Amino acid sequence: MYRTHTCGELNLEHLNKSVNLAGWVQRSRDLGGMTFVDLRDRYGITQLVFNMEENRELCLEARKLGREFVIQVTGKVAERSNKNPKLPTGDIEIIIETLRILNPAEVPPFTIENQTDGGDDLRMKYRYLDLRRTPIRKNLELRHRMAQEVRRYLDSQGFFEVETPFLIKTTPEGARDFVVPSRMNPGQFYALPQSPQTFKQLLMVAGYDRYFQIVKCFRDEDLRADRQPEFTQIDCEMSFVEREDVLDTFDGLAKHLFREVLGVEVEGSFPRMSYDTAMAEYGTDKPDLRFEMKFKELTSLVQGKGFQVFDGAEYTGGICAQGCAGYSRKELDELTDFVKRPQIGAKGLIYVKYNEDGTFRSTVEKFFGEEDLKSLANQFQARPGDLILILAGDRSATLKALSELRLEMGSRLNLMDKDTYRPLWVVDFPLLEWDEESGRYHAMHHPFTSPKIEDLKLFNTEPGKVRANAYDLVINGVEIGGGSIRIHDEKLQKLMFKNLGFTDEDAMEKFGFLMSAFRYGAPPHGGIAFGFDRWVALFAGQDSIRDVIAFPKNNSGRDVMIDTPSGISDEQLNELNLLLRPVKDQTQ
Ligand code: AMO
Repeated sequence: MYRTHTCGELNLEHLNKSVNLAGWVQRSRDLGGMTFVDLRDRYGITQLVFNMEENRELCLEARKLGREFVIQVTGKVAERSNKNPKLPTGDIEIIIETLRILNPAEVPPFTIENQTDGGDDLRMKYRYLDLRRTPIRKNLELRHRMAQEVRRYLDSQGFFEVETPFLIKTTPEGARDFVVPSRMNPGQFYALPQSPQTFKQLLMVAGYDRYFQIVKCFRDEDLRADRQPEFTQIDCEMSFVEREDVLDTFDGLAKHLFREVLGVEVEGSFPRMSYDTAMAEYGTDKPDLRFEMKFKELTSLVQGKGFQVFDGAEYTGGICAQGCAGYSRKELDELTDFVKRPQIGAKGLIYVKYNEDGTFRSTVEKFFGEEDLKSLANQFQARPGDLILILAGDRSATLKALSELRLEMGSRLNLMDKDTYRPLWVVDFPLLEWDEESGRYHAMHHPFTSPKIEDLKLFNTEPGKVRANAYDLVINGVEIGGGSIRIHDEKLQKLMFKNLGFTDEDAMEKFGFLMSAFRYGAPPHGGIAFGFDRWVALFAGQDSIRDVIAFPKNNSGRDVMIDTPSGISDEQLNELNLLLRPVKDQTQ
């Protein structure tokens, strides 16, 4: 028997017991007559003791153990004189009687400690070593727990887990598809699913009523901290539901996870906020509600005072940072530099300091007298000691920049506590989004999203104003999930495709199977998909989803451990009937 116990479970209750343990050498210390070895496995660390006086040979053997050697020992549990309250096994140690080296190890390229000396690239190249580190292992343990709880909750609600295929054709989620050539059908390709969207709708047509799947999705898009080319969704669909039925069910899932995984009780239903309100008050469709600092629009209030920036602006708006009137020149310059960063794009930052003594100090005091500044401050219900920060320019760009500035202030003022969770549903998104480049509308969510029935009449006059029966779950500024009530009627689906600039043939070629399914009794249905990686990262307090994925890709979409993407042999190319064009030089 390799082991009778794991390295995480022995304590004073096991005193004098003979045990077998197996694991990895975390570290070893020679203190003259004694050698101490920390033995590690997935469950914890146990201290092993080799005593020179009692067993010289064994002790000399132990001194040869290097980091990450795999060993097996037998010994007796003893009370430690020097206890370690930080370890669950910290009250005991094992007096070793036999030692077997199961496998020696080369010196690892970085230390397997919570704080490692390994840089990102190195850790990814040797991910199997990185995965041994406790923080990463804890993230994956949390991921496992959450997956189990998702299944438990959805099963209890009558959801049916069904797998859908990976070799499919284009999906309408708006990213590029990853494609796979077909050997048996030369010149033809499968696409990997960007989501199981069409299949889950077909399962509703099939009468399966409530479906879910924890499923890989594939999207060829630019990567960021919260995006991977392959990621995991908790994908769900329900029949005979309206929006509130869906939101109630998944409020329930979220609360279940908060309770069972984090031990956090969230009372009542999550608040609903319209897309328009979210944009007007937070400048984003994923507001972080851990702190207020809502925007106030000042566009017309500040015009006509001769200040060119305000007079010429489509939108002027600001936020009030409480207690920041004391900000120094340097701090204000830093904020100005922040908003002027190319990715934020504001031209400048205007401030109004409402000093403790009731006076005002502002970049625009040449144009705005004391009374003007006071009435401006009143818009924010500002109090002496507060700082108002204002941006002006094109509406959408300024809202976006102000949103970044709000988050920056939230972070500077420590208002974004990682242990506080403020979930909400953002609802009533626009159905369509105008795309300048292609000169046509795109579906903001996807083309199967139902418009709000009361907005249907706008299709002919102002399609951009039609609202979608769509919703996103947002927690602490992260879009955790999104979904919608679907179109289940062929005529409306055709109208939607027409507005998206698809010809009838196009729509038939891409989604004919769904359109014909709608002719065979499609129930009203709706659903949602959650970004599982994002949800785990949020619960784990991690900024990047890479930290909660066992084998993630880097920012160029590469797996540096298995070194892929990589070329394929001529033989494979021949079999697939493919001819490669010379690769364009990316640097030109
Ligand atoms: P959507 O495209 O909004 O909707 O995706 C749902 C959720 O998946 C997560 N997500 C991602 N996570 C990591 N990396 C990515 N590249 C990535 N892209 C998306 C986000 C997002 O909220 N079929 C629809 C759902 C539906 O309508 O039911 C869909 O896929 O958290």
